[in-house]
Amino acid sequence: MIKKGIILAGGLGTRMSPITKSVNKQLLPIYDKPMIFYPLSILMLAGIKEILIIVNKGQVSQFRKVLKNGEHLGIKIQYKEQSQPNGLPEAFVIGEKFINNQNVALILGDNFFYAQSLTKTLQNSVKLKTGAKVFLHPVKNPKLYGIATLNKKNKVIKLIEKPIKTKSNLAVTGLYFFDKNVVKFSKQLKPSKRKELEIVDLLNKYKKLNRLNAEFLGRGGAWLDAGSIDDYYDTTAFVSAIEKRQGFKIACLEEISFRKKWISKKELEKGIKFYGNCEYSKYLKLLLT
Ligand code: DAU
Repeated sequence: MIKKGIILAGGLGTRMSPITKSVNKQLLPIYDKPMIFYPLSILMLAGIKEILIIVNKGQVSQFRKVLKNGEHLGIKIQYKEQSQPNGLPEAFVIGEKFINNQNVALILGDNFFYAQSLTKTLQNSVKLKTGAKVFLHPVKNPKLYGIATLNKKNKVIKLIEKPIKTKSNLAVTGLYFFDKNVVKFSKQLKPSKRKELEIVDLLNKYKKLNRLNAEFLGRGGAWLDAGSIDDYYDTTAFVSAIEKRQGFKIACLEEISFRKKWISKKELEKGIKFYGNCEYSKYLKLLLT
């Protein structure tokens, strides 16, 4: 069972500059809560309670202000800094001590997932014993993502980061499950032409060993990478529409903890006090009734 998860929440947010010049992208609001709540909720829904959040140099205190050490959510949050965006696999080098030779999940801080059977899918994924697992979702502009090509048996035969030309439209989403070899493999990687360690190179190592599993998120599911201005606003619009329509909140962290019985009513009340008079608190109050 995978018990540990990393959220990679650094990066320069260049595509969203000047907004991101003074604030970490992952602390910007997606409708009614900070962006980081969404990937964190995914790890929590998977049942992962030991979490490492990797941020840029000097930014730990900003994240700590809202997420603290996770105790109020019945989880354990640690923080580490990345000196500069050297690539996604660096998460496993920075997180080596945290990972402690165990299997681990990684989610990108700007990735948004919403699908009906997602919780089940996640709970299945943490059962991973060996190898690596990724989720694929079709996209309109494959040039922007890591793209997988499958054979007739739905097996991944090729992985390319931001291909200029490709026949496949299947993006590798920013949620990954790895066995404990991930630290060793990440350390073997060399920077690519764009001077970053590439997640597809890491996945290719698993593919070569015939240990890469790919699953579809499913057509009814939504996956958005809120890293560009348009996608950012689309994600906000999506959350706003769903929440207004059905009355449930997406990525309400205390709700997830409370329903999982990781926190008591007393802790929920503390949360309401912490957030103050806001819509989020009003929603939490409903859980007490
Ligand atoms: O969103 C899915 C895509 O994410 C995948 O399909 C690609 O294979 C993968 O490379 C990645 O592509 P992006 O171009 O979206 O990566 P980006 O540089 O925007 O980084 C994603 C998040 O990770 C972002 O929130 C910033 C953070 N990050 C990124 C790097 C490279 C870090 O915290 N540190 C880093 O070194």
